[in-house]
Amino acid sequence: MTERYSYDVVIVGGGAAGLRAAIAAASHSDKLSVAVISKVYPMRSHTVSAEGGTASVLKEYDSFELHASDTIKGGDYLADQDAVEAFVKEAPSEIIQLEHWGCPWSREPDGKLAVRAFGGMSVKRTVFAADKTGFHMLHTLFQHSLRYPNIIRLDEWFVSSLIMEDGMVKGLVALDLRTRELAFIASRAVIMATGGAGRIFQFTTNAVIKTGDGMAMAYRAGAPLKDMEFIQFHPTALPGSGILITEASRGEGGYLINKDQERFLKRYTPEKMELGPRDILSRALITEIREGRGYEGPFGSYVLLDLRHLGEELIDRKLPFVRELARNYAGIDPVHEPIPVRPAVHYTMGGIHTDVLGRTPVAGLYACGEAACVSINGANRLGSNSLSECLVFGRAAGVDAATFALSKKGQGEIEDSNLLNPVGEYLRIDEEKIYGLLKREGGGERLSDLRSHLQSIMDTNVGIFRDSSGLQEARRQIRELRTGLQRAAIDDKGTVYNTEVIEAFELGFMLDVADAIAYSALIREESRGAHYRTDFPKRDDKNFLFHQLSYYSPGGPVIKHLSVSITKWQPAERKY
Ligand code: FUM
Repeated sequence: MTERYSYDVVIVGGGAAGLRAAIAAASHSDKLSVAVISKVYPMRSHTVSAEGGTASVLKEYDSFELHASDTIKGGDYLADQDAVEAFVKEAPSEIIQLEHWGCPWSREPDGKLAVRAFGGMSVKRTVFAADKTGFHMLHTLFQHSLRYPNIIRLDEWFVSSLIMEDGMVKGLVALDLRTRELAFIASRAVIMATGGAGRIFQFTTNAVIKTGDGMAMAYRAGAPLKDMEFIQFHPTALPGSGILITEASRGEGGYLINKDQERFLKRYTPEKMELGPRDILSRALITEIREGRGYEGPFGSYVLLDLRHLGEELIDRKLPFVRELARNYAGIDPVHEPIPVRPAVHYTMGGIHTDVLGRTPVAGLYACGEAACVSINGANRLGSNSLSECLVFGRAAGVDAATFALSKKGQGEIEDSNLLNPVGEYLRIDEEKIYGLLKREGGGERLSDLRSHLQSIMDTNVGIFRDSSGLQEARRQIRELRTGLQRAAIDDKGTVYNTEVIEAFELGFMLDVADAIAYSALIREESRGAHYRTDFPKRDDKNFLFHQLSYYSPGGPVIKHLSVSITKWQPAERKY
């Protein structure tokens, strides 16, 4: 029998943004039922792997003005400055709030919260918990969420569709991974907190779950995706696996060196050296490699991250996870040897278009965290701003969605009779997709091949350096992959934890998001932040100082422009 559920607020995603939103909504009113639905247990959300820290103005030498200007310059003047100002003002109280909920932040010897340097920040302002910051934040949020009886969790449920009627959110269709049964989940408000889409690329620091699900569902439902062309590469990941070696290792004083034993960043970011922003550093690393100053290894070219001069005591105290990862996944001990590193896809600057309250243009639909684009990150996010973003805008979205749901509660319960279409209609579409996959025998395309093909297209054509012909080629191949997905067959015909069925839905989401990325990148004929066009190598404020909103259409994205909010920081050349 098909299950049916009903909640006032449903949050899709159980990472930092999702849990912060859930706590905010549940504490706003105990009359509201708040569901957190996630395809993994919350503690397996990608937040758990965040390492280096979370930015916030907490020291007397720092100021909101400075944090805002660093963020805006880092984002190459595409961030909305009013949103950035709101963000930097809210971030400190969120850090203190987490402290009160038990987050074990690292300390200075005098007991005050410790801060470390991070790329593109003019002063030390990144709060941390050794180099397992995301792990500790997620535990803190998860444990605190358990205090609210009105937070209900649907762990290991996969949301396959967002249901809209008359331009308003009515709920979701979701699949219980334990049984493969689909259910209709009615809701007055839905918050997408599903993270980014890094897995569209092959070489990434992102967990396998980051397939852009929420972005694609919101997009299909009519909410635009904003600034999708801006994909962040993190300069230092382990070759082969893509495992992140945190920027904190450079914040604590690590050096990047090439084959000539040279700290090559003196040619790219002479003032900031290893603490330049990620877009410039990633291009610098690839340039060194292309010009023959990289090392060659079994997993391709790389440069070295040298921490030896920091000493064992500091590494063990502040970077224990870096040591653990390097030992386990590269077979080297950074106390004695430098770590091989190269850039990997790390973060999606673009996302579901929202305002500072997490509202999308679709009534009842919200987004926060990496799934959203507010935008505070512009064309290039500064490291350690995203965990704070999850807290600040997770909370804002939770409060506003709760307020919205309360206002609708007066209009009666969420009954099937209030829906324009029978619930069965909504379930049927996804049921047919699943049935089609299960009944297709052999011969069809393998899902894993299609996914790998997509990832390699994106790595080759939509990477750190892009041009028109590569981007057009990417779009052509994405179209072919859509046809392939229609013919895809799966081996697992079972009902229990059928991850192949989930992967088919995920691939559909990935293709939509990938096309929005490639198309936005094609249309933006300039270079700004992380978007570098070899055929248009200069920033062009005259013609491109605007956000690009991608609207879904069956034929591909339709782009509209939105002006950038500029309060007091006029666009200027970025120098580091
Ligand atoms: O390097 C890091 O620890 C990453 C931090 C971030 O992306 O904010």
